[in-house]
This record gives sequence, structure tokens and C-alpha cells, in this order.
Amino acid sequence: MNVTHLECAACGTKYEAQRLHNLCTQCGKPLLVRYDLKRAAASLTKESLPGRGPDLWRYREVLPVEQDENVVTLGEGFTPLVHASRLGAQMGLHQLFIKDEGQNPTQSFKARGMAAAVSMAKELGAQKLAVPSAGNAAGALAAYAARAGMEAHIFMPRDTPRANVIECEQTGAQVTLMDGLITDCGAEVARRKEAEGWFDVSTLKEPYRIEGKKTMGYELAEQFDWDLPDVIMYPTGGGTGLIGMWKAFDEMEQMGWIGSKRPRMVTVQAAGCQPIVRAFEEGKRFADEFPNARTTASGLRVPKAIGDFLIIDALRASDGTAIAVTDEELIAATKEIGAAEGIFCAPEGAACLPALRKLLADKLVMTDERVVIFNTGSGVKYVESFSI
Ligand SMILES: Cc1ncc(COP(=O)(O)O)c(C=O)c1O
Ligand SMILES: [Zn+2]
Repeated sequence: MNVTHLECAACGTKYEAQRLHNLCTQCGKPLLVRYDLKRAAASLTKESLPGRGPDLWRYREVLPVEQDENVVTLGEGFTPLVHASRLGAQMGLHQLFIKDEGQNPTQSFKARGMAAAVSMAKELGAQKLAVPSAGNAAGALAAYAARAGMEAHIFMPRDTPRANVIECEQTGAQVTLMDGLITDCGAEVARRKEAEGWFDVSTLKEPYRIEGKKTMGYELAEQFDWDLPDVIMYPTGGGTGLIGMWKAFDEMEQMGWIGSKRPRMVTVQAAGCQPIVRAFEEGKRFADEFPNARTTASGLRVPKAIGDFLIIDALRASDGTAIAVTDEELIAATKEIGAAEGIFCAPEGAACLPALRKLLADKLVMTDERVVIFNTGSGVKYVESFSI
């Protein structure tokens, strides 16, 4: 296939492809997959796309799996881009869109990353996979590991939404609930993985989840007929989707599919856990761990992200920004979006609405611009959030 090598996102050290890797052994930062894009572009053409399947594997040439038989799939990707005309009109916006990632297998965008990671784990011979998760990544890993006939060992905070815990159990995973945050769960995986023979598929600690998630960027370009939107609102925890889309835009430019114009990337976080917003406002490139992280939007409860510098670089390079909203605002927004557009958003996705309102009020977004809200999951998983 077209992968040439892996490369450290921070220090540039190169690594051989087709071997299991976690972080850069030189500096401890994430590795990114690099492709021979000229070669990829020879068969992956814009014209070829309409004849391909409606899932993320339509971008096969820029995905890392070598052998087709190793692709582990449940039909992830190619989610609808919904024109939210009623919701938009309420704010004077005529070109507001919702990318509805809740329609993925396991009801969140985490399916994209896990489809790629589990496929690569299969190709490279891993048998036992482990992950710390805020909930949705766990559900996705459990499903794809089951599909691949592998073991999934999952560590989640004890107060993770019940639906996430139940779905992992019902899809055959080994679930451990911990007192603490996702960072504590990650430390437990790191402590035990060697003795247990687990491969760690923590976000950005292996190079392939981002490859699955970058397909959101390819899809947006395709769905907007190769003219990217002006603004992307992205609920950011670990940031894999934002970093992945940013990578996808560069790849598409190198293949001659799009020009150098980029959407303004906006990180949306919860007021109770906003490490990226803080770092962005303070002009820093690396974020401090956010103390006493709390929010009902469990996917945003990530006090420390290993890819912080990649998120912040993309926000700055795109002339974007970072903004936080309260839990009251994001919960109210869930009903507003649901009632206006019929999409029952995850609270993380709903957080984009009050954030957008603030940007409109501050004239950082204009009403004639094309804006995309990422609804990263389904509200169905979060019944506890709505029964307060
Ligand atoms: C529904 C939902 N939205 C957003 C996020 C944050 O995702 P990312 O790690 O790509 O920033 C998560 C992560 O758990 C999530 O489950
Ligand atoms: Zn490095």
C-alpha cells in the first residue's frame, strides 16, 4: 500500500511502518502515519469516489491497512452532513450544518478511530487490546475487538455513563471501573500492559486511531464539493478528530484536491474541564493538567491531552479559537438542537451551539459563513445527563 513510514509529530524521528508502535521512543510524543500521496492519488481520484462504498474505507489508499482481509468494519463513516436550516435561521445563519457522527456504529465518531486501530492491530499481530476511556472509545473498542476475535480490556471512571459500561459488557469486553479520571485509567493501563501482554490503544498513543478519524476531513471536503467550510466547531477532549482533520486537509492539498485555504478550527470544551482553552488564551503550546475536572459531557473530561500541542498548533494556524461553555448551556443546547432538527446530540456535540452563539456575538463568526458543528455522538448514551 502507500504508507512510507511513521514520523514523530514533535521531533520528526522516523519509524518503520508495519510494526507495532506506541509513542516516539526519543521524546514521548505521538507518531503520525506518512504516505506516498502521489502514488495514492493515482487511483484515489475525486472522480472515483461516487462509485465507492458509503463508509470510510472509500478513502482506502490513504488508510494504513495493507491487506484487505485485515479490515475490521461495521460500516463506519460517511455520516450525513445535515443542513440545520431551522436552527441556523434562529441565529441568522443560513449555512449551518451538523455532521452527525451519532449515526456511526456504536453511536459515536470513536468507531472511525477504532476501526482503523483494530484493523492495524490485526494486521500487526496484536491479540489483546487495552484502553482507558471516557466511555465512547470503550464501546467502540469492545465492538471492533469482538468483530476481530480479540480481547478488549477497558478501564473507565466509575461514573462513566451506564450505557457505555453496559455496551462494553454486552460486546464481550473485560471492564474495570476505577475511582478517578481517564488519566488515572491511562496510568493503570500503562502499569499493567507489559505483564498482561496488552497493546495500548489509548488515543494518540498508537498511530492509527487518528487515521480513522481523519476521514471526517475527507468526508467534509467531499460533501461540500471540495470547497471546505469557513468554520468547524469541534468538541475537544483528546483532540484526535481535530488533529486528524487537520492532517487530512494537508494530505488533500498535496494530492491536488483542495487549495491552501483552511476552515477556522474551533475547540469547544466544558467550563469544568478546559485545559486547551486555558493554554490557548495564555499563548502556550502545551496545556497544564486541568485541576478537578468535572462535566456531564464525559468525553470532554480529559484534563491532560498528549496531543495538546497539535490541537493548539491547528487552532493558531487556522486563525481559529478555543471556547468553553457551562454544563447548563450544553444540556439546554441538546434539547434546542433536538427540537429544531430532530438530532438527539451527545452533550459534547451540543456544546458547539452555545459556543457558536458566543462567537457570533463577538463577531468572530459572521452570519454569511458556512459553519459545521460536529455532533460526535448520540444523546441516547447519556440518559443520566438528562434526568437531573
Ligand atoms: C461524544 C464525544 N465527543 C467528543 C469527544 C472528544 O474527542 P477527542 O478525543 O477526539 O477530542 C469524546 C471522547 O471521548 C466523545 O465521546
Ligand atoms: Zn519524537
